[in-house]
Amino acid sequence: MTTSRALRFSSIALPPGRHVAAWRHPAAQATPELDLTTIAACARRLEEAGFSALIVADAAAVWGEQLDSTEASSFEPLTLLSALATLTDRIGLVATTTTSFNEPFHVARRLASLDHISGGRAGWNVDTSVTPRQAGGFARSEPEVHEERYERADEFVQVVRGLWDSYADDAIVADKQSGLYFRPGARRPLDHAGKHFRVAGPLNVSRPPQGHPVVFQAAADSAGIVLASRQADVMLTAAPSIDDAHAYRARLGDALVAAGRAPGSVQIWPGLTPIVASTEHEATRRRDELHDFLHEGTQRSDVRDDLEGLFVVGTPEQVADRIAEWYAAGAADGFTVRFPLIPADLDPFLDEVLPILARRGVFAPPVGATLRDFLGLSRAERDVA
Ligand SMILES: Cc1cc2nc3c(=O)[nH]c(=O)nc-3n(C[C@H](O)[C@H](O)[C@H](O)COP(=O)(O)O)c2cc1C
Repeated sequence: MTTSRALRFSSIALPPGRHVAAWRHPAAQATPELDLTTIAACARRLEEAGFSALIVADAAAVWGEQLDSTEASSFEPLTLLSALATLTDRIGLVATTTTSFNEPFHVARRLASLDHISGGRAGWNVDTSVTPRQAGGFARSEPEVHEERYERADEFVQVVRGLWDSYADDAIVADKQSGLYFRPGARRPLDHAGKHFRVAGPLNVSRPPQGHPVVFQAAADSAGIVLASRQADVMLTAAPSIDDAHAYRARLGDALVAAGRAPGSVQIWPGLTPIVASTEHEATRRRDELHDFLHEGTQRSDVRDDLEGLFVVGTPEQVADRIAEWYAAGAADGFTVRFPLIPADLDPFLDEVLPILARRGVFAPPVGATLRDFLGLSRAERDVA
């Protein structure tokens, strides 16, 4: 088993955890969502254990009406990750940023800056703003219809990638003798004119250390899969079973061929929600206990911790078995872990499940310095066509 084929793990949960009622648990710090010290300690725990990335989810609005949700208040992802870049050393930092309520120049500039600040650990989870209420923050009465959202997203990512290629890798010479800061001819404008954007460029940040930060796309249906096939390095899915994951891989493979890319060139990372305890009975009790903390106004069907991906409750061996089963079936290249309660669900996963997976050759800590290295992706070549 080579390191490049081993499963990669990322966390899409921040303290106090992904479960909307996690903050009410006696073991949870009540208001950690704006506590940088607590979040940084969590990020360092993840990188020490060999997680490849921390993905910060986002919506440019409060997510829903749930009265008990910590999503009522959260850091803006790129601001948070810029701080975490200085407090961590070897974990990818992935910001969810919408293409529906942003301009490509802003996003290209911020992600290029994060890539420089973090030494090449930046990633972008491309999101098209699924919740209609996000339009309210931007003087619009409603978001674009579904197809328009994805069409705009495709052109948006294309423009961002073009802007990242504004400078050649060796453009900045800072030659005190000649007085040239950058090499003549090593910068080009973009001059993009499309349906949604007219962007002359060039970007005012030199080429990111990774060439392009890693692009993630969370896909649910055909439009998301097509976008992932055209623009993404990693596709996040909510596949709840191995059969569903295989179906996603087949559909993505077809879309990749149609887009002129190799069928296996985009990694697939399903969601994973683990609740781990020394006995299955205790793990089940802990799951039910968290649900019992839900506010009476919250429907159980609103609880997103057991709707998105592989939900597994059990002993470290049982949880490792299920993950290894997905790995053996070729259903996942990595997982996006949604720890319901942090640190209660994070500690046993890192301390007990990961070592079992490592012994079986299913997991190996990432190698290299950049997020692309961690994921086995080569550096993005500059496209000057
Ligand atoms: C693992 C995963 C993470 C996601 N994270 C976010 C997020 O942070 N913010 C968001 O608005 N949508 C997020 N989504 C939703 C997707 O971006 C997408 O909009 C959704 O799957 C619905 O698809 P649609 O846009 O085709 O309606 C996520 C989806 C998945 C599967």
